Amino acid sequence: MSDDFFPVPSQWAAQALLDREGRAADYARSIEDADAYWLERAQRLDWITPPTKADESSFHEADFGVKWFADGELNVSANCIDRHLAERGDQIAIIWEPDSPDADVRRYTYKQVHEEVCRLANVLKDAGARKGDRITVYMPMIPEAAFALLACARIGAIHSVVFGGFSPEALAGRLVDCDSTIVITADEGRRAGKTVPLKANVDAALAEAPCVNKVVVVQATGGAVQMREGRDIWLHEAAAQVSADCPPEPMNAEDPLFILYTSGSTGKPKGVLHTSGGYLLWASLTHELCFDYRPGDVWWCAADIGWVTGHSYIVYGPLANGATTLMYEGVPNWPTPARIWEVVDKHQVHTIFTAPTALRALMKEGDDYVHSTSRASLRVLGTVGEPINPEAWRWYHSVIGEGRCPIIDTWWQTETGGAMIAPMPGATDLKPGSATLPMPGVIPQILDGDGAVQEGATEGNLVIAGSWPGQMRTVWGDHDRFFQTYFTTFPGKYTTGDGARRDADGYYWITGRVDDVINVSGHRMGTAEVESALVLHESVAEAAVVGFPHDIKGQGIYAYVTLNANEEPSDDLRKDLVKWVRTEIGPIATPDAIQFAPGLPKTRSGKIMRRILRKIAEGEVSAQALGDVSTLADPSVVDNLVANRQG
Ligand code: WT7
Repeated sequence: MSDDFFPVPSQWAAQALLDREGRAADYARSIEDADAYWLERAQRLDWITPPTKADESSFHEADFGVKWFADGELNVSANCIDRHLAERGDQIAIIWEPDSPDADVRRYTYKQVHEEVCRLANVLKDAGARKGDRITVYMPMIPEAAFALLACARIGAIHSVVFGGFSPEALAGRLVDCDSTIVITADEGRRAGKTVPLKANVDAALAEAPCVNKVVVVQATGGAVQMREGRDIWLHEAAAQVSADCPPEPMNAEDPLFILYTSGSTGKPKGVLHTSGGYLLWASLTHELCFDYRPGDVWWCAADIGWVTGHSYIVYGPLANGATTLMYEGVPNWPTPARIWEVVDKHQVHTIFTAPTALRALMKEGDDYVHSTSRASLRVLGTVGEPINPEAWRWYHSVIGEGRCPIIDTWWQTETGGAMIAPMPGATDLKPGSATLPMPGVIPQILDGDGAVQEGATEGNLVIAGSWPGQMRTVWGDHDRFFQTYFTTFPGKYTTGDGARRDADGYYWITGRVDDVINVSGHRMGTAEVESALVLHESVAEAAVVGFPHDIKGQGIYAYVTLNANEEPSDDLRKDLVKWVRTEIGPIATPDAIQFAPGLPKTRSGKIMRRILRKIAEGEVSAQALGDVSTLADPSVVDNLVANRQG
């Protein structure tokens, strides 16, 4: 058997939730008998009023809308906690591994999670929170972050998690956009031995976000913070004053559960809205099927709760399934590159779910850090966030998993709620670099530039031809933007923004974004956002940002900057601009290269030709590689750009 094909091992097939034929039959039924299929699948949740309708969505302008299980009622937190109490109330729900390997692990049973969540929910109610209110969560990776999500869900408030690495400016924009009245935060976060001043960042953000009137603060590090009388509440003090019971609010399946901001190709970040029933079903079903989750498994999604991966696969999917979910406060390579595998051994983790960028960074450190650990508990290895290069795939498979564990490469997006194209351990033969086949109900299509559906082995624009339960429902506050962004490029289909290839076996290979979104270490970054930040700097007249291939990050950020007439390029200014972007957006937007450009390549109508900028950033500088530049207003700018290429 060639290295490029890994058939399902027979011992896996024999005990699979779905085997090869089972997966194919299940998929066929999910398409051919969709309503019956989904009403049946919906029974994996506990409903207050079970739904009688499944998909009522339309991608067409006349009756546009995404709607699932619309006459059903449930509460998401009751599904993630209360319904497990009778059978597994004393089972560990959350294991918390702290940043420092020497600090104490915390463990919470389902019963304890219930109490913590109820108390926090009551604190939020006392702070004025009501069903439908927006509550922003700006937290480190501590158990209280999960409690915060579940407490919001319990009272029907809509949470909006803002990644703790975002700057006060970025936080303020997200607070104002959804008109949050409450923020839940911590005194400080910890990452790789350093502290992050979360409460101080909130204080700074609130100067620009008058909508917020209460701040609930978790004491995480004990670091000094300023508490403003009448506005700021210590959680540990308030929680001691309230009841340990809070009845879950009955919610319609289509009531909003959360907003999560994500970058697009234009404008400011979009508030992606997910609702209650369809989302939870999708998170829990994909968690079970993609990873062959079994009761008793210790599950570790090594993402941050600030991203959709953390929402769906640290909190909602695993807890809906009654799993033991591990939350890790720190980073993969601190204090040493062995940390992840040491944590796997320490907690006897069965499945780990991480990003290719982390694997590439660890791979570079050599195998000794791996061999010093056992990893014998591992059964399944997951990856998400960006295309996984076959070299990293093979390392994950042969070195980390010692050939024993299937690699589950899951393709999806913030917008899709959970995995869309992915293998299932007992059902799917693997090919390194391919996310393989669609999940139940997902109809991927590959279109050419004109929107014509391509059959068989082909390559082009990846779209999804119909709705699925976990699909986003709208852009917060801008339903028209939802329609315009995703359903007009190819009318009647959901445009993913990704390109893909389909091979002769029907396997999908994601080739990357086809729009102006770049993927830096598995984090999505709109080039327009970085450009907006740069032009806010007093020395900058204009900026154009593109991605370029980066060994570890997947893509790096390359910025071309035109300075104001009286400004001189210098290394100091370059450093200043890097710092500026970090303060405006956050460290994840740190430019890897800044090139001062007296002029940018523009068409006569003034449109920047990014194709040329991308080529130069990639190091493709021959006239042939750059292609036709004759349509530029001033073709001579290209020579200057080539001559001053960075890196
Ligand atoms: C974009 C979505 C999915 C949660 C984390 C990122 C890229 C994601 C894969 C994969 C190739 C992938 C796509 C997608 N992407 N997973 N397995 N193979 N590309 O969520 O921030 O919404 O980004 O990440 O380009 O469109 P996100």
